[in-house]
Amino acid sequence: MAHFTITIEDTGETFRCSDRQSLLVGMEALGKKGIPVGCRGGGCGVCKIEVTAGDYRTRAMSREHVSEEDEAEGRLLACRVTPVSDVTLKVVGKMKKNVCREQASES
Ligand code: FES
Repeated sequence: MAHFTITIEDTGETFRCSDRQSLLVGMEALGKKGIPVGCRGGGCGVCKIEVTAGDYRTRAMSREHVSEEDEAEGRLLACRVTPVSDVTLKVVGKMKKNVCREQASES
């Protein structure tokens, strides 16, 4: 099992994620409150992110939330993405306000 460093571009935070975990599971391990984890199965769209650097594998995602164009540009559902290298991402889905809010109240 390999571990990679994932950087959240919005906040500068990093977390570790193994090649057996989804990016969403890794992000939850940061202990942020209010990450509205939904279906974990690629169907609800709350966990949408944009991968800006790095390599990953994906599993089936609903076309309702990720168009072919999205997929080509790295806009994906975190619960369906597994890293295969260090990854940098931006949060673009509904969880963005939760991920970024806590950061704001800390500073
Ligand atoms: S948690 Fe539902 S699409 Fe990721």
